Amino acid sequence: MKKAAVLGSPISHSFSPRLHHYWLEKHQLEGNYEAIDTPKHMLAERLAMLKEAGYKGVNLTLPLKQAVIPLLDNLSETAQKIGAVNLVTFKQGEMNGDNTDAYGFIQNVKSHPSWSDKSLTHAVILGAGGASRAVIAGLQHAGAKQISLLNRTHEKAKQLTEEFSVVTALPWEKRSEALSEASLLANCTSLGMMGENPLDLSIDKLPVNALVTDIVYNPLETILLRKAKERGNPVVDGLGMLIHQAVPAFEAFYGIKVEADEKLRHGLITTKL
Ligand code: ATR
Repeated sequence: MKKAAVLGSPISHSFSPRLHHYWLEKHQLEGNYEAIDTPKHMLAERLAMLKEAGYKGVNLTLPLKQAVIPLLDNLSETAQKIGAVNLVTFKQGEMNGDNTDAYGFIQNVKSHPSWSDKSLTHAVILGAGGASRAVIAGLQHAGAKQISLLNRTHEKAKQLTEEFSVVTALPWEKRSEALSEASLLANCTSLGMMGENPLDLSIDKLPVNALVTDIVYNPLETILLRKAKERGNPVVDGLGMLIHQAVPAFEAFYGIKVEADEKLRHGLITTKL
């Protein structure tokens, strides 16, 4: 039986076991996928133990995505660029780190019927944390021509202009004006998430054909997405990114290419999985 897990702390809220078990059942595979609470100081020991026990690999979530890097034998180019790892595979006694978040973001926005290469003309990204790094890496790799980045702490946005050639940093105070020529808008801050402050943003200047997405998926329809939808913009919620990032992980663990189908999404939303 092929075994895999997601490690993090806290971990009980993770959707990953439900995602992977849905696909295991759908494809009638004998496999297991569990959530194992793992604080940072236990990561090295936990990985060694799971490798020894014949696990195929693990997904990582907070607070382990960066902490794992010094423990790995190999790091993919994407993970290196993003500076974070969400997938570790064990092969021939070695630990390999990869990152599928950038892929998840791109696949999610591409799945919208109104997506076209024009969406890559000018992306506006809010936030410059870990999630933002993956989104920028995904957009740059997909061929984005221009990315305007706005972050409350301007220094962090400026730092990213040095790492990603298509990025221009603009002051956080300019976030509403910066939308006037956008073809894509992505909220990569934690604002708008349940229990967090709302995102204070006027989207009046945003072209009505610009695609709007939010990495926040709790609530599924953030205020940003609702406002965008009401004025006619195409919108993509953040749950799809979570589902799509798991697709290459599933293939790495169990050897099968799976689909982010509607039944899975519906099951996650209604918690019927
Ligand atoms: P993640 O890994 O999800 O990206 P993170 O690295 O903690 O999480 O990043 C959170 C992002 O939300 C950051 O861009 C943060 O801005 P700062 O870099 O200035 O901290 C942004 N953010 C969080 N709270 C915010 C607030 N009240 N106003 C504006 N931006 C906020």
